[in-house]
Amino acid sequence: MGAFDSLLAGLKAVAEPTRLRLLCICARGEFTVSEIQEIVGQSQPRVSRHLKLLCNAGLLVRHREQHWVYYRVAHRGPGAELARTLLTTMPATDPQFELDRRRLESVLDRRAEAARELVEANGLDHGVARLDDEAGVDVQVLRYLGGDPIGELLDIGTGGGRMLRLLGQKAERAVGIDISRAMLMLARSNLHTAGLDHLSVRHGNMYQMRFPDQSFDTVTIDQVLFQAEQPGEVLREAARVLRPGGRLLLLEFVTDTTYDLWETEADDLAAIDEQRIAEWFQEAGLRGIKSRRFPGQPFPVVLTVARRLDEDGEAAA
Ligand SMILES: C[S@@+](CC[C@H](N)C(=O)[O-])C[C@H]1O[C@@H](n2cnc3c(N)ncnc32)[C@H](O)[C@@H]1O
Repeated sequence: MGAFDSLLAGLKAVAEPTRLRLLCICARGEFTVSEIQEIVGQSQPRVSRHLKLLCNAGLLVRHREQHWVYYRVAHRGPGAELARTLLTTMPATDPQFELDRRRLESVLDRRAEAARELVEANGLDHGVARLDDEAGVDVQVLRYLGGDPIGELLDIGTGGGRMLRLLGQKAERAVGIDISRAMLMLARSNLHTAGLDHLSVRHGNMYQMRFPDQSFDTVTIDQVLFQAEQPGEVLREAARVLRPGGRLLLLEFVTDTTYDLWETEADDLAAIDEQRIAEWFQEAGLRGIKSRRFPGQPFPVVLTVARRLDEDGEAAA
């Protein structure tokens, strides 16, 4: 379809009251059909039909996560530009949009509550060590990555989306993956609260990600490897999706010889050997390693940054 035809298709698709409302709703994050149904107060077949038309015109995109299908505004492709333009012209004080917004907020509040309950029920909020000065570490993460553009960002094992919240605003595109549906619900809710509706999270396994080779400029892995059975394999997979010259940032609990595991009750906590980090980075083709240690409870945390070798086997400066 040419540019003229796709503009016409987009305009036709959106020139209907419910579909205009759906566009506004899906600009506020990712929603399932039943959530959208609740917001607009229409039957499921009607809502599905409207969503399908908007997707066909490229204004919305959908993705499946287990039993759910999520809809959001397209960020790229033929309808994305039109969607962006239309969204900037929406009246701020329209009573219908205002009602949709209020219902949307209550859907999101319930989602946040459900995410917290799921995280708690699965015991996912326990057994994780803590940084002494999280804000101080965040400053260093920004400093280490700040020199170059973040570009397209992937956060592996995103959990509640901490790295996405820290770096997402500076990224061209940012996506987080996690294997836990409870954590994905929590991340979606946290991103919405932080006003980062343009970021997304996806279900995914860090050992076998669905992204093609060389898809990202920056990859972050924050406090994930200490629970991994094969940390070296995770780093190899992370390096695979990095573009040549792209950067990997790792934040990880490391073993501390001054710390006696038996003196604490935290016997379900784990940390990795700092020496091994450099070896795994080397094996994954990551070079120019810089690292720094921060105090944490009960283990210290090491921040490591390195670059994927470029096509000539050189690490970019
Ligand atoms: C300790 S949390 C860290 C979360 C987040 N990065 C942070 O720093 O707040 C570890 C996360 O890794 C996720 N995870 C564990 N195994 C995974 C796998 N195979 N693939 C993707 N994510 C995984 C867990 O579900 C969990 O959300």
